[in-house]
Amino acid sequence: MKDMKNKVYIKDIAKYAGKTITIMGWLANKRSSGKLHFLQVRDGSGIIQCVMFKGDVSEEAFETADKLSQETSIVVIGEVKEDKRSTLGYEIGIKELKIVGESKDYPISNKDHGVAFLMDNRHLWLRSSRQVAILKIRDEIIFAIREFFRKEGFISMDAPIFTPNACEGTSNLFETNYFDSKAYLTQSGQLYGEAGAMALGKVYVFGPTFRAEKSKTRRHLTEFWMVEPEMAYHDLEMDMEVAENFISYVVQQVVKNRKEELKILERDISKLEAIVPPFPRITYTEAIEILKKKGNPTKWGEDLGADEETIISNEFDKPVIIHRYPAAIKSFYMKRDANDDKLALGMDIIGPEGAGEIVGGSERETDYDKLVERIKEHKLSMEAFEWYLDLRKYGTVPHAGFGLGLERTVGWICGLPHVRETIPFPRLMDRIKP
Ligand code: 4AD
Ligand code: MG
Repeated sequence: MKDMKNKVYIKDIAKYAGKTITIMGWLANKRSSGKLHFLQVRDGSGIIQCVMFKGDVSEEAFETADKLSQETSIVVIGEVKEDKRSTLGYEIGIKELKIVGESKDYPISNKDHGVAFLMDNRHLWLRSSRQVAILKIRDEIIFAIREFFRKEGFISMDAPIFTPNACEGTSNLFETNYFDSKAYLTQSGQLYGEAGAMALGKVYVFGPTFRAEKSKTRRHLTEFWMVEPEMAYHDLEMDMEVAENFISYVVQQVVKNRKEELKILERDISKLEAIVPPFPRITYTEAIEILKKKGNPTKWGEDLGADEETIISNEFDKPVIIHRYPAAIKSFYMKRDANDDKLALGMDIIGPEGAGEIVGGSERETDYDKLVERIKEHKLSMEAFEWYLDLRKYGTVPHAGFGLGLERTVGWICGLPHVRETIPFPRLMDRIKP
């Protein structure tokens, strides 16, 4: 194709007012009335109305435009005109129109479709303005995450996907063949992050993680992205402070840079603007008291489920940090509270508006013997954890970290009821296609 270098992106259209330019994209929508065709053209960067007047083009071109179907790829050459009524402030008066690729019987129309149908057509559904808005916000969040950690002096460190051991319990491990032995898909990069923190001081691991979740909920994916900072010489208090500054930074970057997309999603921005430090902090024991007052039967010692999280988060306008859980329901690597051995120095952050648990973190056990004891208690393989125990043998220090689930965060910030729209190609218990 000629002239591809000379195309103008719709987002930059204001720079070309009064000029004749070339747009390359797809037909999102079309409306006609007598001598006029109104084509909504999208190019990924934005969407613009292109108007074809019968008197301005050849008869053949006008006929062609009349037959254009949704998602036909097209090149439009025309003049950029100011148009106060449109969101962009501009429209294009078409002089020439070329078809690049046909699109017959495009399966997704502007009608309502069922979720299963849209999920089967996820590769096409991604083109809709809602999905484009969500993907742009996801990109903004990822960028803000890396920017925050770069500014705070963290080093990005990648952890392996194939692992010899479990990090978050053995009940939801994906097992795979690894030549003559077995390997597991990583549940969390944390243990490797701990090794990294001993080398680099402050690191973060950011990558895909896998859990064979046998529950079909609106918050569980089998493949999801997690960002996990890990910091040497940090305790639980410092961990919570990093987490609230981090989350607030990410939310405010989205509010600042993605207003248009939040508007497409009809997101109440004032709720996001309120996300600034400090966040409310309560102990697990206080959380149980709140639940009791609200008539929820959860007893001390039991884990908090989705319903409990919602009841607690409804008490606050910001994410709420719940810390010092019963050690018995938390992971093997968490340090115990020096004041009460039944408690783990762990924390979860529950997002507002029913977002659920977005962060899990803790101060880590630093003592070699205690860690050996915990590995035995949790019936984990000592051999697989030998390297991890080395971190306590050679210069052990207090350290802490947390993991933030990217998709739950995208869902919360976008105001989506289900995680399936927060990742381009969701992997759920009952879905691995497309
Ligand atoms: O609470 P989790 O299991 O914590 C860890 O994995 C720690 N190793 C993290 C650390 O301290 N470095 O998971 C952390 C977060 C959860 O709070 C949730 O946001 C997300 O990961 N998450 C999931 N997101 C989508 N689908 C799932 N199945 C998820 N499981 C956890
Ligand atoms: Mg958790």
